[in-house]
Amino acid sequence: MKFKPLLASLYVALPLLATSVEVLAARVTLKLAHNLDQSHVVHQALDQLAKDLKEKSNGELNLRIYPSSQMGSPRETIEMVQNKALDMTKASASELEPFVSEFAIFSLPYLFSDEEHFKRVLFGPIGEQITAKSQDSGFKIIASYVAGTRSFYAKKPIHSPADLKGMKIRVVPTPTTNKSMELLGASPVPIPFGEVYTAIQQGVIDGAENNIPSYYQTRHVEVAKFYSQDERVSVPDYLVIANSTWDKLSPEQQTLLMQAAKDSEILQQKLWDEEVIRSKAESEKLGATFIEVDKQPFRNALAPIYDDFAKDPNLSTLMEAIKTEEAK
Ligand code: GCU
Repeated sequence: MKFKPLLASLYVALPLLATSVEVLAARVTLKLAHNLDQSHVVHQALDQLAKDLKEKSNGELNLRIYPSSQMGSPRETIEMVQNKALDMTKASASELEPFVSEFAIFSLPYLFSDEEHFKRVLFGPIGEQITAKSQDSGFKIIASYVAGTRSFYAKKPIHSPADLKGMKIRVVPTPTTNKSMELLGASPVPIPFGEVYTAIQQGVIDGAENNIPSYYQTRHVEVAKFYSQDERVSVPDYLVIANSTWDKLSPEQQTLLMQAAKDSEILQQKLWDEEVIRSKAESEKLGATFIEVDKQPFRNALAPIYDDFAKDPNLSTLMEAIKTEEAK
């Protein structure tokens, strides 16, 4: 008789205990590291993605973001993803190129006729065909983010390829980027994104190339006052998840993550367009000069890269498909 109340309370408590264990077991926290500042719109879109995941999964699926190269360069974080030491990262097409050769297509200068053409490729079947290839390298790409066009900026004005002669320009090193610099008479210098400011300031390099939001948010504008709008390449960013992490998620969690990733693409495009305008205006306030350049001499100097790509069966097929997309 004495034990009855105890037994009764156990009877009530056990199912509760079991439920809370289940909830704990189902809670997943994914770690995502990238090299961008927290003010960057890709970080903002990822932040929103984290909030959406948490809310829609009732706290079951969480994303912890480590920005500003805390876990290393994109090359390092991609390798960590491959080695199951990290769940997710952000990487640009150039940073993914050593792992999936088709991403080289985005280093081809003046490939897209305009932003609409670029977006049709990025978010359409061609983009999907390229990103699907990453599965063989141990990761899956679940979102694509626009990153405008990359142009040169330096301590002195660059109006034409002749002005680039002998200049040391920081690049994300890929065979195509390196060759582009050489064709333009410049020397490509591979420096991590976070070290470019000091490198320009100390005269280790003469300039770099990037989109306007990155030029402003990194404060490179303070040390390189001339931004030449040659708009050579459109190199997108991607959200990457390890195959091993993806496989551990339940089908419901996978659907939730995919939906939140797609929503983040839409938000990022909206934020991006606003950010380009804002960054340009803010840079001008800090004394930057934006130079309109005649793109033809740049196109002419870089034309041999098209011949190189034509010799590669995969890249030439992609080039043709992208050209066909232009006419649509
Ligand atoms: C851009 C791009 C990044 C890239 C960086 C760089 O900001 O969005 O993904 O890492 O350029 O040049 O290193």
